[in-house]
Amino acid sequence: MRTITTIAELRETVREWRLARESIAFVPTMGNLHAGHASLVGAAHLHGRRVVASVFVNPLQFGPNEDFAAYPRTPDEDSQLLEGLGADVLFLPKVEEMYPKGTTGSTIVDVPELSGILCGAFRPGHFQGVATVVVKLLNLVQPDVAIFGEKDYQQLTIIRVSVEDLCLPVKIVGAPTVRADDGLALSSRNRYLDADERARAPQLYRALDRARRRLESGDGDVADIEREGVEALKAAGFRPDYFEVRMAETLARPRGHNVDVVVLAAARLSRARLIDNLQCRAAGELQEAVSGH
Ligand code: PAF
Repeated sequence: MRTITTIAELRETVREWRLARESIAFVPTMGNLHAGHASLVGAAHLHGRRVVASVFVNPLQFGPNEDFAAYPRTPDEDSQLLEGLGADVLFLPKVEEMYPKGTTGSTIVDVPELSGILCGAFRPGHFQGVATVVVKLLNLVQPDVAIFGEKDYQQLTIIRVSVEDLCLPVKIVGAPTVRADDGLALSSRNRYLDADERARAPQLYRALDRARRRLESGDGDVADIEREGVEALKAAGFRPDYFEVRMAETLARPRGHNVDVVVLAAARLSRARLIDNLQCRAAGELQEAVSGH
């Protein structure tokens, strides 16, 4: 595996692969890799002859009071893991390489209808930062396929829409969330949890699972399903940002019957802000709920 830190060298490597007509699959990450990321790299091997992973903690997607400085950085372990997973290239740029003019004042990518809802309502500017860095990375790596985890469901949706709107020639593939045995979705931010918080954290998954079962059994009372989710999280000691049912493809408020939906939640447990979601088919007639809790 080659570790590349400059755009010039990355472009040269990609150019050689393209000349040899080798397909490229790409896994963008912020590092501190775990089994969830490993599954993305595994999926990448199914989609491309060459596999590129990037590790870049993107300052543009962190708010002023968020954890950019504290975000776990483990480049040596990440590099070892990626080597073991058979990645061809690790792209590990510095902030100045990705943002030579700084992070303010440059072009940004925004999907206005989607960047202000759900997590976007609590993290202003976050999804503009994500979409911008992802479009830059896609332009640099020029992959045939790029793989993103379904755990960041809103992110995945925003990336799909950006790629479609900007006519980028890449296929976006979502990979299933990897969970601990007790249901907790793997996340780099889980390391912020102490032992007591870690023991309570799977309640997020359980609350989502309860909502999923209600929806699958034909219960269409979206307002009550969301209320119950918020209450369950509070009872487990979380401070919920939201617990909402949305249409799976568009993230619009849910309506209709026998439709694909996703239940999404974000909640704080002390320092950690955890997100998770579950998709399902809502069997009953969904009654419109007033958005926001
Ligand atoms: O999901 C992540 O790790 C990041 O948001 C991403 C997609 C790598 C962009 O920085």
